[in-house]
Amino acid sequence: MTILELAKQTGVTIGSLQEIVLNVGEKVDSEFDPISIDVAELVAMEVGFNVRRLHSDEGAQLKTRPAVVTVMGHVDHGKTSLLDALRQTSVAAKEAGGITQHLGAFVVGMSSGASLTFLDTPGHAAFSAMRARGAAVTDIVVLVVAADDGVMPQTLEAMNHAKVANVPIVVAINKCDKPGADPERVRIQLGSEGLLLEDLGGDVQVVEVSAIKKSGLDRLEEALLLQAEMMDLKARVDGTAQAYVVEARLDRGRGPLATAIVKSGTLLSGQHIVVGAEWGRIRAIRNMVGKVIESAGPAIPVEIEGLKGLPMAGDDVVVVDSEERARMLSNGRKKKLEKDRLHKASEERAESPDTSE
Ligand code: GTP
Ligand code: MG
Repeated sequence: MTILELAKQTGVTIGSLQEIVLNVGEKVDSEFDPISIDVAELVAMEVGFNVRRLHSDEGAQLKTRPAVVTVMGHVDHGKTSLLDALRQTSVAAKEAGGITQHLGAFVVGMSSGASLTFLDTPGHAAFSAMRARGAAVTDIVVLVVAADDGVMPQTLEAMNHAKVANVPIVVAINKCDKPGADPERVRIQLGSEGLLLEDLGGDVQVVEVSAIKKSGLDRLEEALLLQAEMMDLKARVDGTAQAYVVEARLDRGRGPLATAIVKSGTLLSGQHIVVGAEWGRIRAIRNMVGKVIESAGPAIPVEIEGLKGLPMAGDDVVVVDSEERARMLSNGRKKKLEKDRLHKASEERAESPDTSE
């Protein structure tokens, strides 16, 4: 990126852009000199633009990676129970004596060596937030439908989310142990909602499970692996990481903690990062059993410690060269957020004049 390109894209004069570049402490001799992506983002934000970083993996060596799976479905249809049951089948969980720390995501390793990464519910909000920011981390949606209750409003909502995001669905008909279970009815309902089930010649796999009885889980995992295989999921492993926040929380002892999923590249402990509008230096990376690890590659959920503030689900994790740069970018993003917020508030005021007095 050069100042000239930035001027073309923003419509702001080269002179003004050069001044901003100088203000953020960068030296450029001419508008043709390359500026770093961080500086470009800062300058663009300064003149009122939202920046989305596009990462090109062109020319990079790609390796097969695990699928990232989100469980969705109607209230009480058993999303949490199903995730808990799946979590217990995880090899890592068995090794840790069944105790996994509660990250917003976990990995299920299969005896074949393949693995699946599950995002915890509540998935809807994070899923939408990420999609809105162009951060599509979910590869496959497991649509949970209770066999006794059938298709309900949020089943359709979830179906729609997946459709709009162009994410394939695998259906898990849950609670098949219940006396009132009628999986056939669920199939017919889903079919009439336009879901092309494999039993009816389509390509959407359907698996009958019971989260409580822990039955059908291996078949569900197989269905997901098959779906992943068909998608031929690959990612760049080497180089700077691109990652997304799935969940963030404040720990009284350890400060802000962000669960993130690496999309491509490798995240390293010690790196300076900007996460959404927050910044920090990675003090520790932990895996799903709480073990400190030095690095994390694609589709691996990790907990990042060392941020100064609490990011939001869907925020991107950007690796930068120095603390100074991290601080600067974070400040720039905060200012931009505040500007947008004020702008939106004033627009809303203009649209609905206060007539209460
Ligand atoms: P929300 O997070 O509130 O939307 O619900 P959820 O979809 O996570 O459902 P949850 O796992 O909390 O399960 C709801 C109820 O259904 C609980 O009482 C579970 O014990 C029960 N349940 C879940 N799975 C099964 C199942 O396979 N069989 C039976 N019989 N009950 C189940
Ligand atoms: Mg739940």
